[in-house]
Formats: sequence, structure tokens, C-alpha cells
Amino acid sequence: MKKFLKITGIILGVILLLILCVAAWINWGGMPGYEVKPITANIKTDSLTLAKGQKVAENICAYCHRGEDGRLSGRLIMKPDSPFGEIWSGNLTKDPDHGLGRYSDGELLYLLRTGIKRDGHPALPFMIMNRMADEDLNALVAYLRSDAPSVEPVAVERTSKLGFLPKALFKLGAIKPVEYKGEPIIAPPPSDQVAYGRYISASLYFCAECHSASFETFDQWDPEKSPGYFGGGNVVEDLDLNPVFSANITPHPEYGIGNWTEEQFRLAVRNGINADGRALSFAMPKFALLSDEELSAIWAYLRTVPPLDNQVVREATAR
Ligand code: HEC
Ligand code: HEC
Repeated sequence: MKKFLKITGIILGVILLLILCVAAWINWGGMPGYEVKPITANIKTDSLTLAKGQKVAENICAYCHRGEDGRLSGRLIMKPDSPFGEIWSGNLTKDPDHGLGRYSDGELLYLLRTGIKRDGHPALPFMIMNRMADEDLNALVAYLRSDAPSVEPVAVERTSKLGFLPKALFKLGAIKPVEYKGEPIIAPPPSDQVAYGRYISASLYFCAECHSASFETFDQWDPEKSPGYFGGGNVVEDLDLNPVFSANITPHPEYGIGNWTEEQFRLAVRNGINADGRALSFAMPKFALLSDEELSAIWAYLRTVPPLDNQVVREATAR
């Protein structure tokens, strides 16, 4: 009996030691490194291109990167006591030492396609644009290099302190960079309304990511295969970092937006006011720059999505 206890004790001790070693490796060992393969692109700077880029930057990047100074200088995304640690979004202004002045166009494009930063380390997977058309992505880069007030240099360094959880997810391979396939990506023409609406809502503006069941189960290459596609219930955080459930925006008459009019839909997406007249949470970005043509296309596409009877609890989210 004594011998048995001793052996069990030794085995438990060894297991504990192994666990401690793995934990130490996760916490203090270096982050995984990947090769950076800058993407060559022809970045145009005509006014149409810049307007296109502004739309993408203001509709997507500004949501996380708008600082208190009104520029894209970065902000606190997760508080120090969150499981992810203290997370700041990066400084996207043109500052040469603290902002995107440090990135070449090719490095920036590679980060946005794969999630690999210029230092070869993976970024948190918040801004991987693997389905965005080349033209839109190149326009975004042109805008970030432009004379727009949003990207005027701001000399602040935004440094995140990753918690144990994201370190573990990176190191154990649960968060991996996305493969860069190098094939040209071309958006459908606006005249092909439903296809265009699908592109805008499922490949360009992250509507599908936030409005499907969860970020973890979202299908990054084939969004329509994602569980709970557009059925809502995903957890998004508002500006005070409180969780808010995304809405079911399938055409379900009761739990979705099947009974809404296109006018009500436009008001919700552009101005953040829903069909009940309620102001939507900050967790739903205001897509103020979307044109009527783009909104009609999204609307037309969403009408073709299978209605899901997922009832999302919204009371707690009203403000
Ligand atoms: C959901 C929030 C979110 C959105 C949307 C977002 N970002 Fe970020 N971004 C972050 C966070 C958080 C970091 C810091 C990540 C890290 O260090 O791992 C970051 C980091 C970056 C960096 C790296 C900066 C550096 O110092 O290496 C770049 C470049 C960047 N973002 C560009 C963009 C662009 C361009 C867009 C719009 C297309 C965008 N991001 C949209 C949250 C976001
Ligand atoms: C960052 C995540 C996020 C993105 C991106 C996003 N949404 Fe939302 N959306 C939400 C959340 C969260 C709510 C619920 C807000 C609330 O209850 O106050 C919401 C609410 C809505 C509503 C209101 C529905 C209702 O029943 O009140 C509509 C319509 C909507 N979103 C459409 C869109 C469209 C279209 C897009 C893309 C152009 C989009 N959303 C992109 C998170 C997002």
C-alpha cells in the first residue's frame, strides 16, 4: 500500500511538473514566428480609389482603431483583467515610428490577408480580409497612406499585454494565420444585385462574421457554410466592453427581420436605429457611408438567405 502511494505520488508529481513546464513555455517562451512574404500590388491613388478606401477604413477599421483623438490612432479593446489580457488596437496613422509608417504596402497587405505582422508574429485574428476583393483592399491601403485627417501622424505607441489564454491559443495552434492563396479576388459588379449584396455582407463588411452563431465556428473561406448563418446570437462587445448579442437578420418573420421594410433596414444599418425605434448598441457599427445601391444589394441578398428560427435574447442589450 505504502509503495503504491509512493508510486502514485511520483507519477502525480511528474504530471504536475510537466503541466508547469508547458504553462511556463506558453507564458514566457517566444511567440510563434512566420515568414513574411510582402504582396506586390499596384496601389492607385486617384480620388475614386481613395473614396473607396475611405469607405472600407471608416466602415471597418475605425470601429476598433478610432482613438479618443478622433484619428485612427488605436484604443483599448480589452481591459487588463479580461482573459485575453490588455489589448490595444494598433496605431494606423502615418506616424513613421509608432504607426503604419513602419509597414511597407506589401507587408500591410500580407498582414491583412493572413494575420501575420511585419515582425513575423501573428496578430489577434481581428482583421483578416481573406475574401475582400483586391481592388477594395488596395484602395484601403491607398487611403491609409493619404492626406486624410483620420491618418495624420499621431506619435503614440499602442502595446498590448497578451494574457495566458491567447498565448496558449497561439502556441497550441488554435489561432493560426490564414493561408495566402495569391489568386486574384474580383468583386461581382453592382448590376448583379444579389451577388453584389452577398459580397458586401459576407466578404467585405463582416456582417456575416458578427451575425452568425460564433466567431469560432465561422467558415472563413465559405461563409454560407457557417453554423447559424445570419441567425445572430454571436457575442460582440460594446464600447464599455460589455457583451451584446448580435441580431438574427435572416428573413424569419418573427425572430429575424422578415417583417421589416427596406427603409427600416437602411436606418438600422446606417444610423443604428432599429424597427422598434430603439437605438442599437455601439456593438453594431454604423455603416454611415454605405450608398443606397449598396444597402439595397445587401437587403436583396439577405432576402435569399434561409430564415432561421433562432430567437436572440435582446432585453439585456438595450441601452
Ligand atoms: C475587431 C477589432 C479590429 C478591427 C475591426 C480591425 N482591427 Fe486592426 N487591430 C486590432 C487589434 C486588437 C490589434 C492588435 C493586435 C495584436 O497586437 O495582436 C490590431 C492591430 C492592427 C495592425 C498591426 C499594427 C502593428 O503595430 O503591427 C494593423 C496594421 C491593423 N490592425 C490594421 C487594421 C486595418 C487596416 C483594419 C480595417 C480593415 C483593422 N485593423 C480592423 C483590432 C481590430
Ligand atoms: C462588429 C459586429 C457587427 C457587425 C460587423 C455588423 N453587425 Fe449588425 N449588429 C451587431 C449587434 C451586436 C447587433 C445588436 C445590437 C443591439 O441589440 O443593440 C446588431 C444589429 C443589427 C441590426 C438590427 C436588427 C434588430 O433586430 O434590431 C441590423 C439590421 C444589422 N445589425 C445589420 C447589419 C449589417 C447589414 C451589417 C453589415 C453591413 C452588420 N449588421 C454588421 C453586430 C454587428
